[in-house]
Amino acid sequence: MSESPILSTRHGRVGLITLNRPAQLNALNDALMDALGQALLSLDADPDIGAIVITGSDKAFAAGADIAVMADWTYMDVYQGGFITRNWETIRQVRKPVIAAVAGYAMGGGCELALACDIIIAAESAQFALPEIKLAMLPGAGGTQRLPRAIGKAKAMDMCLSARMLNAQEADRYGLVSRVVPDAELQAVTLKLATQIAGYSLPALMAIKESVNRAHEASLTEGILFERRALHARFASADAHEGMHAFLDKRKPVFQHR
Ligand code: CAA
Repeated sequence: MSESPILSTRHGRVGLITLNRPAQLNALNDALMDALGQALLSLDADPDIGAIVITGSDKAFAAGADIAVMADWTYMDVYQGGFITRNWETIRQVRKPVIAAVAGYAMGGGCELALACDIIIAAESAQFALPEIKLAMLPGAGGTQRLPRAIGKAKAMDMCLSARMLNAQEADRYGLVSRVVPDAELQAVTLKLATQIAGYSLPALMAIKESVNRAHEASLTEGILFERRALHARFASADAHEGMHAFLDKRKPVFQHR
């Protein structure tokens, strides 16, 4: 039996998904992306999970779409087969916080997968690139859209048109990642952060994620209105009353995730 292309484990209220094609530097074929999508949806539906982490190996988060598989595909193969749309985009349906823990290469689709997560924690060894131009291809899993929104047009054009690779410090400076940590601490720091986040009220986390993502989709006026309504809706939540009363009572809140 072939080994599963992903491994899924639980750490308290955190679901940890490990991409598991080390010999191919976690190249993202359909089997892996189907399994990743299923694991994400299953953790998203699980009331005992509050945050999700996606990670790879020490050498590669993921080196991109699987070039060996794609090399002979035709336009009809990818158009009728819904390449990317059918499985890669499942991550957009996830309403809980998703953290990418990146060591080594995050290239092409691997960089795009990290960009589709809510927070990126980079190990010092992390390297980010959208090198599709070298293949006469194009970043097609959100790279040309999410990268400029993350780091601005100048840096994004440089990366997309020249295949420039960013090291972790550059990625941090440009705002592509949230934090840089030593490689040996990547898993521990990420799980600690995910555990902290998963301890907060789940519906509040979901509302914040929805609201922050709205910043990329809406005008400022519409975004502010969305945020205001999301804030108003917090007053319908038992957790918000518990959180505020616990503060006033000088005790730790007990959230019911309701
Ligand atoms: N697809 C398929 N196989 C890949 C792969 C990929 N994206 N990246 C690496 N591999 C395979 C290699 O073919 C190699 O396999 P063999 O041992 O069988 O030869 C194995 O993984 C190890 O790779 P290397 O020997 O190349 O390792 P390296 O350390 O010398 O180099 C690397 C690492 C710089 C990441 C290099 O592998 C590389 O450039 N990979 C391709 C990166 C790339 O172009 N990604 C974009 C893909 S297109 C895309 O993602 C489109 C999209 O937007 C969805």
